[in-house]
Amino acid sequence: MSERVLRRLLVAGGAGFIGSNFVKLLRRTRPDVEVTVLDKLTYAGNPANLRELEGQEGYRFVRGDICDGEMVDHLAGQVDAIVNFAAETHVDRSLLDPFAFVLTDVLGTAVLCEAARKHEHEVILLVSTDEVYGDVTTGLSKEADALRPRSPYSASKAGGELLARSYVESFGLPLLVTRGSNNYGPNQFPEKIVPLFITNALDGLKLPIYNDGSAVRDYIYVEDHCEGIDLVLRKGEVGHAYNVATGVQTSGLEVARTVLELTGGDESLLEFVRDRPGHDYRYAPDISAISELGWQPKVNFREGLAETVRWYQEHEQWWRPLKSGEYWDFYRRNYKPIETEVS
Ligand code: NAD
Ligand code: TYD
Repeated sequence: MSERVLRRLLVAGGAGFIGSNFVKLLRRTRPDVEVTVLDKLTYAGNPANLRELEGQEGYRFVRGDICDGEMVDHLAGQVDAIVNFAAETHVDRSLLDPFAFVLTDVLGTAVLCEAARKHEHEVILLVSTDEVYGDVTTGLSKEADALRPRSPYSASKAGGELLARSYVESFGLPLLVTRGSNNYGPNQFPEKIVPLFITNALDGLKLPIYNDGSAVRDYIYVEDHCEGIDLVLRKGEVGHAYNVATGVQTSGLEVARTVLELTGGDESLLEFVRDRPGHDYRYAPDISAISELGWQPKVNFREGLAETVRWYQEHEQWWRPLKSGEYWDFYRRNYKPIETEVS
């Protein structure tokens, strides 16, 4: 299969968790590709994630919003392709403030598609999620399956995808979509399960487990995910979506227990809390399409988690300042003991 050669990329949301890992991977493996990062620097965006790239030839950072049509149009005119990571991404926050998700994940995606169309880009890749399939009680989700999102986060991601798809049909937009599973690894904001549980365990704080901890996810090491995205960008068939996952499902309780083992924490730190409303209990993406392109995950969950625990142990100066102020306001609003529901 012939490889797409892209020279100048606009990476939206490149200062967040996965985006920054992707940009660093790209700079390491293909330094000839010029990269412009566009990022609004919300609470989840962090310039420290990209500090090691500052001053490098072929790299620049622009602070801005993907909903800002003029700015996006200006930057899009200088590149051959867009890769979009920019999004509001945390399901629990989407239950507290849905509109922020609609704005960035739907409207922002529309603005990027419009710019890619106008500037006749070679390709636009949207980084989406396996959550667009909704709760999957049995079997595996294939890319052609119906989208049945159940949270404002996943519905907004699905909305962005559908709008982009309408651009394929209506205007021939050269679209690629990746649907990644649950990522973990260095530089993840400590609100999703893995970094939250690691940082809480390191501080001797409780690990809040929704309901009975039986909900399963397919946890993928961030570098494996980024390599999958890069492969789809180079070799993916335009108009197609690709699941990027490991094929292995792990429950929340297993995540908590493994984190405690790796951090030397005691089982008394396990705390069962009120369930997330509309909690999806199972995601299980099929990975045969991306496997056919030549991708396989390299890191198993235990190895990747051990590596991630080490990273958080060695980078307290990165995560400790994030767990302050607004973070604890969110925490108090989100987590409730099971008793409150009963009484
Ligand atoms: P993140 O929350 O760590 O980072 C999101 C980034 O987007 C931040 O840098 C933020 O500042 C930026 N951003 C937010 N709104 C913006 C706007 N309006 N304009 C410009 N920048 C904006 O997210 P992440 O976990 O790195 O996820 C990246 C992408 O991957 C998202 O699109 C997400 O839906 C998708 N995804 C994430 C996971 C996961 O497990 N984290 C899994 C599959 C797919
Ligand atoms: P999360 O990391 O929020 O990702 P997702 O977007 O896939 O829901 O949650 C992963 C799983 O862990 C999900 O089943 C909910 C559960 N979970 C907890 O039990 N406690 C927590 O504090 C969090 C954040 C998640």
